[in-house]
Amino acid sequence: TAPGRGEGACCIHRVLLCFLLGKLWETTAAQIRYSVPEELEKGSFLGDIAKDLGLEPRELSERGARVVSRGKKQNFAINIRTGSLIIRDRIDREELCAQSPQCLLNFNVLIEHKLKIYSVEVEITDINDNAPRFLAEEQELKISEITPPGSLHRLESAYDLDVGVNSLQGYELSPNPHFSLRVQSGDDGLKYPELVLEQAVDREEQAVHYLTLTALDGGEPIRSGTARIRVNVVDVNDNAPVFAQSVYSVSIPENVPQGTTLLTVNATDADEGINSQVRYFLVKIPGKNSEIFELNPVTGGLTTLKNLDYEDANFYMMEAEAKDGLGFKDRTKIHITVVDVNDNAPEVTITSVTSSIPENAPPGTVITLFHVHDRDSGKNGQVLCSIPDDLPFKLEKKVDNYHSLVTDRALDREQVSEYNITVTAVDFGSPPLSTDTHILLHVADINDNPPTFSQSAYSAYIQENNPRGTSICSLTAHDPDSQENALVTYSLVDSNLPLEAPPLSSYVSINSETGVLYALCSFDYEQSQELQLRVTARDSGDPPLSSNVSLTLFILDQNDNAPEILYPAFPTDGSSGVELAPRSAEPGYLVTKVVAVDADSGQNAWLSYHLLKATEPRLFSVGLHSGEIRTVRAFLDKDALKQNLLVAVTDNGEPPLSATISVTVAVADSIPEILSDLSSHPAPESQDDSLLTFYLVIAVAVVSCLFFTFIVLLLALRLRKWWMLQVVQSAADHVGGVSSSQFLGIDGVRAFLQTYSHEVSLTMDSRKSQLIFPQPNYADTLISQQSCEQKESPFPSQSLLQGKDDQAFFQVNFVL
Ligand SMILES: *[C@@H]1O[C@H](CO)[C@@H](O)[C@H](O)[C@H]1NC(C)=O
Ligand SMILES: *[C@@H]1O[C@H](CO)[C@@H](O)[C@H](O)[C@H]1NC(C)=O
Ligand SMILES: *[C@@H]1O[C@H](CO)[C@@H](O)[C@H](O)[C@H]1NC(C)=O
Repeated sequence: TAPGRGEGACCIHRVLLCFLLGKLWETTAAQIRYSVPEELEKGSFLGDIAKDLGLEPRELSERGARVVSRGKKQNFAINIRTGSLIIRDRIDREELCAQSPQCLLNFNVLIEHKLKIYSVEVEITDINDNAPRFLAEEQELKISEITPPGSLHRLESAYDLDVGVNSLQGYELSPNPHFSLRVQSGDDGLKYPELVLEQAVDREEQAVHYLTLTALDGGEPIRSGTARIRVNVVDVNDNAPVFAQSVYSVSIPENVPQGTTLLTVNATDADEGINSQVRYFLVKIPGKNSEIFELNPVTGGLTTLKNLDYEDANFYMMEAEAKDGLGFKDRTKIHITVVDVNDNAPEVTITSVTSSIPENAPPGTVITLFHVHDRDSGKNGQVLCSIPDDLPFKLEKKVDNYHSLVTDRALDREQVSEYNITVTAVDFGSPPLSTDTHILLHVADINDNPPTFSQSAYSAYIQENNPRGTSICSLTAHDPDSQENALVTYSLVDSNLPLEAPPLSSYVSINSETGVLYALCSFDYEQSQELQLRVTARDSGDPPLSSNVSLTLFILDQNDNAPEILYPAFPTDGSSGVELAPRSAEPGYLVTKVVAVDADSGQNAWLSYHLLKATEPRLFSVGLHSGEIRTVRAFLDKDALKQNLLVAVTDNGEPPLSATISVTVAVADSIPEILSDLSSHPAPESQDDSLLTFYLVIAVAVVSCLFFTFIVLLLALRLRKWWMLQVVQSAADHVGGVSSSQFLGIDGVRAFLQTYSHEVSLTMDSRKSQLIFPQPNYADTLISQQSCEQKESPFPSQSLLQGKDDQAFFQVNFVL
């Protein structure tokens, strides 16, 4: 324990007193002793040596007194003038005596004159001229954080060169809650400081503590020295790792690629160095998690090992553990929420399907029942089904995502026989996914269409005299249905002929399969010019459907009739008509007229007249188309009385047909002469003009009567015909439609002409006239069984099919 300063000062006085008493005693024992503190100035007074030697100060110099040191440094000298001993050089006690408690310097004073030597002893006393000092200004100390309180740690001591009270007396420590100071005294009496751990240290709280140690001496004034003490707290693995969060939550879309780092767990360990190194592990729980996720032990990153699928699992919960080197642990929870991504297209499952429905299926007939499912959830799993708008179908929603495809309106196989219905299922995701399902539907045929002809009426043409079996034309009806329902058969409707007429089937027949119309007989234009037919086309459906079409068969004329000469043709021997010509006739006098008819029509009835042979070639001419025989010049006397002419009548057909007539012209001055000439009986002489005139009047009257009779007859005939027609029409639904009132029989013409030509040839100037007869309807009257058995024509007949139902007019030209 350090002594107090007051006590130290008292002690010093006591020592000085003892010292002075001892000096007195020593003087007497002839040893001179002085005491002087160290560090005095040069020349400082040490002691009155002259007096102590019993000499006067001046005697010292006279007797040659001097200081003799025995081979040592001379620290003292004698001041001769004052006879006192002075310090020659500054004295450091620590240098001379180090730590010795007493420092004595011995020397001798020699008085040469008497050769006397005196021993002088000087005690150097210590002054506090040195502060305590530490060897190092800073001391470093390591204390483990687990060191128990109360443990001692030796600190480096300080040292002080001074001695006694001036030397090191004690230590002081800067205040610190963890540490205190204890000063121990060693066996050598030295004091050394020790650091006492009062309170445990925690590196994690404060890793380094700085303390100041102060060393104090007991001098006046007190001197001190300091050292800095750095206490390093040594780490001990006394802390477990701690996760930054107690729960790590993350939401990730299900389509993150494999190996994506989802999150990073982070645990910190308060320790340092190797004690703070943490490794991470997933707490193994039986299940799939460990196959799906992997935790990097070093970085704490949680990565996926597999692709995630929201539809498999949408939430994962696991625990992660952090462990440091000693096995201190912490746990945290990891929550992974998988967010649905629209990665599944809707699935369409067809439950039942009808592959074919009849075209007359009523609207609402179910075709298909299907189920729609989308594995996604929420909007991604909501599905909308649709079909194209233009189809005659609609979708109906049923329970539990079932849908049915039903017909919306009537179907028509003839328009669309097969539907490839695309059902599109689209979900509401972004972007939406869709699935197309194709449903193939056949529309089965129903016999709902009759066969139809492309025209409402047909016209066909055939040359007369056709060979039997000639095909005339072909009719085709089209039926849009399919198979049997479209299999068309053709037949003739045998209805619009008069009841008494032979059946139509005796004239024509139709091939029921091909629709080709054949002539069963050879037609004769001169007997019938057209034939009205109705053809029925019937399909083979159940029930069958049919349609009718009218066909007008026009028979075309051929030049198969030679001209027939009507006049002059009597008497019936065919050659001996005699015409009269007065000898006085002027040139151009109309002698007679050849009248001919041709049963054909058109060109085939266009007649021309030629003079083939004449007795007097230059005397007569025949009108090319009129048939009039006229004189070319006046008769001469030399001309024969009887002139023979051969006239040919030719038609314009191809090839032309002709007929010849021989005309005899008698030339006379008067009719009686002629008559007498001609009849080998002698004619009465001198016939006068008045007689001729009388005859002519008679003739005209007769002709007029005949004509009137003819007209009456004609009227009667026509009345009868009209009456018959009425009967026929009412009896047999006559649809021919052509008025039969225009009918004029060729026989009637012939009769008329025979009468009329007489009159004309006798009385009237020739003129050409043209009669136009509208087309008569011969079908009911003119065609007979006999005409079908006519000899076959050598010309091949041609059939024509014409698209117009035209009302044809045939012109019959008669040249009168
Ligand atoms: C862990 O957390 C500590 C403290 O918050 C931080 O310094 C460190 O960077 C984090 N480590 C990682 C990998 O995030
Ligand atoms: C239906 O139509 C789709 C596309 O238009 C096509 O891929 C499919 O082959 C068709 N199905 C049939 C049976 O024709
Ligand atoms: C066709 O004609 C026949 C006989 O005239 C008749 O019975 C039938 O109804 C007609 N069919 C049609 C579709 O006009």
